[in-house]
Amino acid sequence: MNGEDIRALQGFRSPIRRELDRLEERLSCLIDSDTPMIGRICEQIAASPGKRIRPAMLFLAAKSDGGASEHAVDAGAAIELVHTASLLHDDVLDDHETRRGSLTVYASWGPKLSTLMGDLLYSKAFSLLAEMGRHELLGILSAVTHEMSVGEIVQYQLRHDITVNEERYMELIFRKTASLFSAACECGAVLSGSCNGSRKSLSGFGNRLGLAFQITDDLFDYLAVDEGIGKPTASDFGDGRVTLPLLTSLGNAPAAARERVGGLFRCGFDRGKHWDEVVSFVREYGGIEYAIGRARDLGKEAKAFLLDLTPSPSRDALGMAADYVVGRVEPYCR
Ligand code: IPE
Ligand code: IPE
Ligand code: MG
Ligand code: MG
Repeated sequence: MNGEDIRALQGFRSPIRRELDRLEERLSCLIDSDTPMIGRICEQIAASPGKRIRPAMLFLAAKSDGGASEHAVDAGAAIELVHTASLLHDDVLDDHETRRGSLTVYASWGPKLSTLMGDLLYSKAFSLLAEMGRHELLGILSAVTHEMSVGEIVQYQLRHDITVNEERYMELIFRKTASLFSAACECGAVLSGSCNGSRKSLSGFGNRLGLAFQITDDLFDYLAVDEGIGKPTASDFGDGRVTLPLLTSLGNAPAAARERVGGLFRCGFDRGKHWDEVVSFVREYGGIEYAIGRARDLGKEAKAFLLDLTPSPSRDALGMAADYVVGRVEPYCR
């Protein structure tokens, strides 16, 4: 992350510093284990923490909607555990050797342990929610975990399929990513005992934010360098995942260019030899411009949902989070 990204992250975290500190304490207790091997894997996970965006959205949603309840920190921890579990599984599916600038559990311990640790973290999240006795939250998070799993399975099924269109792509990224952002915001609303109106607005905000988040992540895969985002780039194309930049350019390009890149995509892609050509293709035929435009529009749509809420520092911070999500990829798109 560069200095500007860190400042932007700090900006929207400022109303919830206390909750985020308590979240870290809670997460370290939760993943503590007296089984040595599990303990070592947990230490590896804890050594490279993520951005904690989803729990931050839950805390801000709760605060902007009347106040964070005593259960907010536990619910935020459950959301982060679900997210981390999904990454442990995703790293197996996508063959990711690095994440957050460090080796993945998949790379250090292999696919079996990465999968089993993902299962373990899911079970931790659900037992935590069950202990809280908040059945509504348990319902929201179990439904979203199902949705995310279906998303990852559909994505796997569609690999190397260049007929994936924008509608299919949007449906897929809702399932695998935006559903959890939306659920985080909805859980915040439930915790603050909100009326149905603001619950809908907050879950709508999370939905648009999550869609924008995945589109920008997919842009990073074409534009960033590995060190910049702490995970491999060129991996979506190389592994046959159709994302918005690529599908847009495939749709705009003349037949010969489309067939050439479509051929590389289906088989025979060599990162060392072909990556520059693929990035030029995606830029030349408008894929980057269109995808960043869609992310910007979704960021605006997300912010429009916030107008339904009473003004507060937390509501403003949610708006800043939407700006952060879109803004962090902008320098790469120029
Ligand atoms: C990565 O999410 C997975 C996607 C949905 C693209 P984050 O970028 O929020 O991951 P961490 O937790 O901060 O590493
Ligand atoms: C998001 O998709 C993964 C999950 C929702 C679990 P990606 O596969 O694009 O995420 P990264 O790029 O590996 O973080
Ligand atoms: Mg991945
Ligand atoms: Mg990605």
